Amino acid sequence: MNVNIALLAGDGISPEIIAQAVKALDHVARKYAHNFTYREALVGACAIDATGDPYPEETHKICREADAVLFGAIGDPKYDNNPKAKVRPEQGLLRMRKALGLFANLRPALLFEQLADASPLKPEILAGGLDIVVVRELTGGIYFGEKGFKDTDLGPAAYDVEQYAEEEVRRIAKVAFDMAMKRSKHVTSVDKANVLTNSLLWRETMIEVSKDYPDVELLHMYVDNAAMQLVRNPRQFDVLVTENLFGDILSDEMAMICGSLGMLPSASLCQGAQDNGLFFGLYEPSGGSAPDIAGKGIANPIAQILSLSMLLRYSLGEKTAADAIDSAVRRVIDQGCRTGDLATGAPGEIRVNTAEMGDAIIAAL
Ligand code: IPM
Ligand code: MG
Repeated sequence: MNVNIALLAGDGISPEIIAQAVKALDHVARKYAHNFTYREALVGACAIDATGDPYPEETHKICREADAVLFGAIGDPKYDNNPKAKVRPEQGLLRMRKALGLFANLRPALLFEQLADASPLKPEILAGGLDIVVVRELTGGIYFGEKGFKDTDLGPAAYDVEQYAEEEVRRIAKVAFDMAMKRSKHVTSVDKANVLTNSLLWRETMIEVSKDYPDVELLHMYVDNAAMQLVRNPRQFDVLVTENLFGDILSDEMAMICGSLGMLPSASLCQGAQDNGLFFGLYEPSGGSAPDIAGKGIANPIAQILSLSMLLRYSLGEKTAADAIDSAVRRVIDQGCRTGDLATGAPGEIRVNTAEMGDAIIAAL
């Protein structure tokens, strides 16, 4: 099989962790006789520095021509403290999601039992493990509404408009229900229907789509309650579907519950691009570019490597290779390998850096 992968390393720790995923992919290529061609492209702060544009046309072209995109993260502190800066790295990521039609963001939150100590939650709350998928709408809502500054009676003001088309809600609902059919047939839809009109449409549409899935139980929850329930009793959730902004917030909460933002992969998928059941997609860690530890070689590459596994599974249909990567990660965690974010000082812990974690996972493959 000949596969074109667009490699978008991005900013901060991303080049370091993506290098580990590429090592793992090269290993998969040798083992399963695949031929992967990589094309590198710029996005985020590195793209602004090189071209002035956080998502250059050339990058868009390389992504469109690829079978899948492996992406790290974007963001640089030099752009963070000026909300009026004309170009920002984040704009590159948002434009890329929109331009590639990546409306469905899957963020699986899986607690590895050996890492339960790294979670801030009490062991009794986590007993039995955690396995939740957040299905986040990724190309609509307040992220993409009209925004700007204006003068008001109270002086200068800023605004962001939130709007959802019924069709945008319907297609993400389908992704969530299809996912639930493959899991425990339970969907929690998170909204703010006691306040937002958007959420009324969201809720109505969820109910409408649920009629096509009579075996799936649908529950509605307000977002404030969901944030609370996630720390009180996360085991009540299986598939959690929500709008763009709520999904951004709740998925970070979920990551921390699972011990570290460095563990969680994500897939951003495009609707039925192929008729073989596979998706075109972009695969990235749920966490950010972590500029505070960039260049030190100590970042946790697991989220990036698990993102690669999602790429193999969803875009290439390579279930065997994806399963092999998932179990290799599990094995190195069992062996006690820990990057700094996961370390608790427990006996038997083996402290490793980024490259050593990558090597350990490849050795376990
Ligand atoms: C994420 C990130 C992005 C988002 C930022 C970097 C724009 O936080 O992927 O969760 O808000 O979607
Ligand atoms: Mg986020």
